[in-house]
Amino acid sequence: MDSILVKGNGALNGVIPIAGAKNACLALMPATLLSEEPLTLTNAPRLSDIATMTQLLQSLGAEVAGLQEGKVLALSSLGPINHVADYEIVRKMRASNLVLGPLLAREGHAVVSLPGGCAIGARPMDLHIHGLEALGAEIELKDGYLHAKAKGGKLRGAQMTLRMASVGATENIMMAATLAKGTTVINNAAREPEIVDLAQCLRKMGAQIDGEGSSRIEIQGVDRLGGATHQVVTDRIELGTYMLAPAICGGEVELLGGRMHLVAAFAEKLDQAGVSVTETEAGLKVSRKGGRIRAVDVTTEPFPGFPTDLQAQMMALLCTAEGTSVLEEKIFENRFMHAPELLRMGAQIEVHGGTATVKGVEKLRGARVMATDLRASVSLILAGLAAEGETVVSRVYHLDRGYERVEEKFRGIGAHIERIKA
Ligand code: EPZ
Repeated sequence: MDSILVKGNGALNGVIPIAGAKNACLALMPATLLSEEPLTLTNAPRLSDIATMTQLLQSLGAEVAGLQEGKVLALSSLGPINHVADYEIVRKMRASNLVLGPLLAREGHAVVSLPGGCAIGARPMDLHIHGLEALGAEIELKDGYLHAKAKGGKLRGAQMTLRMASVGATENIMMAATLAKGTTVINNAAREPEIVDLAQCLRKMGAQIDGEGSSRIEIQGVDRLGGATHQVVTDRIELGTYMLAPAICGGEVELLGGRMHLVAAFAEKLDQAGVSVTETEAGLKVSRKGGRIRAVDVTTEPFPGFPTDLQAQMMALLCTAEGTSVLEEKIFENRFMHAPELLRMGAQIEVHGGTATVKGVEKLRGARVMATDLRASVSLILAGLAAEGETVVSRVYHLDRGYERVEEKFRGIGAHIERIKA
């Protein structure tokens, strides 16, 4: 397993291109199952999670080709479609569950393995199941697989209210509803930019969808969908992650493709902490306002609130802030695994349930640390960039799931970072 060596190297300056959003692309790719026409996705990120989704779709009978070194994905599902999503692939990536809605809508039946838990939580699928059952699906769990079929062979539109604004459940239900008979209304729908991106792509394919980005999405089912070409939206989590590099080390960095509306709540917190974020023609320019970072309190919420996927990275910044910060993680039940690793670097953090209290210290010290999940891994790199001495982050396969060319991008702004091949 590879590791990454990071050495504090002072202020960081330069430009970083931000890639297409992993979490948008992982929802856009299964949409190919809804149509026999070709779907082309541009600005696709080159990540191991995308390779996993490619493998899954190919196992279902779809054709997926990565063009221009994987920045363009050409997908088509002419059929016949295999409707079993195997545990061996699904267990590697929870987002595999996003083939359930499209398979049900296209084939009238699907057998999809439950993804199993992951480091950050149990991550059940009850909201996906209840939503699809409201559309007329009969779903039962057998041997770890969800066996789903549409009563009468076709899904029917329905009104529903999600108990929680689940991103994945909203995506699965929205895709299934595009081919259901009649009207579907999803209340308390997730509002993330990735949902908006998926709805815009489905509309290009001929779907009739209104309200995406609000908590009420209405879908009129149609008989069939066509093909489309769609550009994947910028990755707001990669964007927020790299915004923290100049915040934690000093200097000024411009993030190409960044737009303020994608990270408004996060940028607001950075502003309170003493970091200036300005929107330029090409992206977002980030630099410290001067002086030490100030402590701020953070509570993670569904979009447009502070994103849970930036909580670990923000904690790394607050470890060296002046004062004490309180971080509340409201989305996942176990998303502070980066805290014990940051303690090894001299941070002062106390975790009680879903609350972490961080007392800022002047300087962190480099150490050997271990990545536990995708976002925790990059928070350790950020901490290492600002620490005295060397930090070695092990198990960086987590990192490669969600950050393309991470060493290259950090090196591009002057960071001392290298990959140590196992
Ligand atoms: C998506 O996961 C993202 N993944 C996650 O990003 C992100 O953290 C999460 O949304 C929240 O924003 C992708 O888009 C591929 P949820 P998802 O359904 O859809 C509970 C990353 O680092 N829940 O909104 O799985 C669930 O357990 C990843 O890129 C149920 O209880 O998230 C969690 O506590 C990590 N029942 C909360 O809701 C359900 O049926 C939010 O989950 C579904 C979810």
